[in-house]
Amino acid sequence: MIGSSRPRLIVLPRQPNVQPSPPPTAASEHQRTTMPPAHPIAAVTHPNPYPYYERLVAERPLYYDTELACWVVSSAAVVTAILTDPNCRVRPVAEPVPPSLSGSPAGELFRRLVRMTDGREHERLRPAIATALDTVTKPDSETTIQRWATTLLAGRDDDPSPGKFANYAMGLPVYVVGSLLGIADAHLGQIVPWVDDFTRCLTPKSTPEQVERGKDAAVQLTSLIRATCHDRESELPNGPLHSLAHALTSIEDNTEEAVIANGVGLLAQTYEATGGLIGNTLLALASRPELLQQVASDLERTRQLVHEVLRFDSPIQNTRRFVATDGAIAGQPVTAGEMVLIVLAAANRDPLANPNPERFAVQRSHRRLFTFGAGPHACPGAALASTIATIGVNQIIASGLDIGPLAGAVVYRPSANARVPILGFTK
Ligand code: HEM
Repeated sequence: MIGSSRPRLIVLPRQPNVQPSPPPTAASEHQRTTMPPAHPIAAVTHPNPYPYYERLVAERPLYYDTELACWVVSSAAVVTAILTDPNCRVRPVAEPVPPSLSGSPAGELFRRLVRMTDGREHERLRPAIATALDTVTKPDSETTIQRWATTLLAGRDDDPSPGKFANYAMGLPVYVVGSLLGIADAHLGQIVPWVDDFTRCLTPKSTPEQVERGKDAAVQLTSLIRATCHDRESELPNGPLHSLAHALTSIEDNTEEAVIANGVGLLAQTYEATGGLIGNTLLALASRPELLQQVASDLERTRQLVHEVLRFDSPIQNTRRFVATDGAIAGQPVTAGEMVLIVLAAANRDPLANPNPERFAVQRSHRRLFTFGAGPHACPGAALASTIATIGVNQIIASGLDIGPLAGAVVYRPSANARVPILGFTK
């Protein structure tokens, strides 16, 4: 039963897959931090990609990148046009599932994700997911976030390692969403490494080992969510999974599989993005001590801070689309099958969307955010994600833990789209 057992230990994601490299010399470090990134994928984990993004917006808002072999779009106007263009799909038409996952349970799961479908399938799933997330009321989500933030921080002041912040930032979002889905407390610690493995197998650059781990994790997550759906003792008879099942019953042939896949999908969508948001907010605070004073532990100020971090140093930097049929995007002729890389983090820096974009302004008025996407696939978890980060960061400030040691040369998790700092792991 929810609330009956309080896990003491958070089971941590495996140490990040950072390749050992020779210690940097002062010259190589200077070059790494001052040279612009080679391309928009390298920008995701670059120490400071933002001057490069600002140049892309000003000089090349839509161009073909021969090295990446895809179109790259970056200005607010072109990004919005692509995200709302029905000819730009979330998957290549001929490849609904990545070949590396095809034929496996992970591939079956992938095929059913709202995030990975278009057209009629997406039109059926999307309202059901939105309704399911709406069953989580604001007071319910706030109580759950507060409960897990307190639990996961308990005893952390005895832990001198700055790595404790990484465990908290990456664990809290999964605990919260898992808990809201009705997963029993005792299982929440287990799912963090599974979600970590599953998300790592989804990227185009996943290694064979990551793909295999991800497939195993998909099996574990599927059986846990299936058990949660069948658990008559669940305290959330009207919670998101039940609501999703109810909404899909009349329209899906295989309701249960769609519910389970999208339950796993919600955990996966939450994990890196919200963990990255908490991490990037802590970095913003650590490198601007005066801000810490301003925000103190004021929840409303912390919320504004989180929103500015979403714009200024967004945890999701880009997303992709694939051209369905020959045509044109923003007036540019394109061919079926071509990929478009949509640099959301650059659109956030477009001065036509956000004047003086290089200014970090907690109280910015009329902030325009591209971080959660736009159009039919726009993130339905945006409000929940912001609230998890706001309460999560606020709880750290209130606990008095010293975040100062986090400032410095940051290392990011290897990723082609998520900017997620490995807190406490500096160069
Ligand atoms: C800071 C945290 C988050 C960020 C930055 C983020 C960002 C995004 C973006 C950019 C998309 C659209 C991708 C595209 O159009 O290609 C998206 C989709 C989605 N997100 Fe989030 N997300 C976050 C947290 C969450 C959370 C907490 C949930 C749910 C609990 C969630 C659920 C989803 C789902 C289900 C989709 C797919 C929607 C669809 O395809 O119709 N996200 N997210």
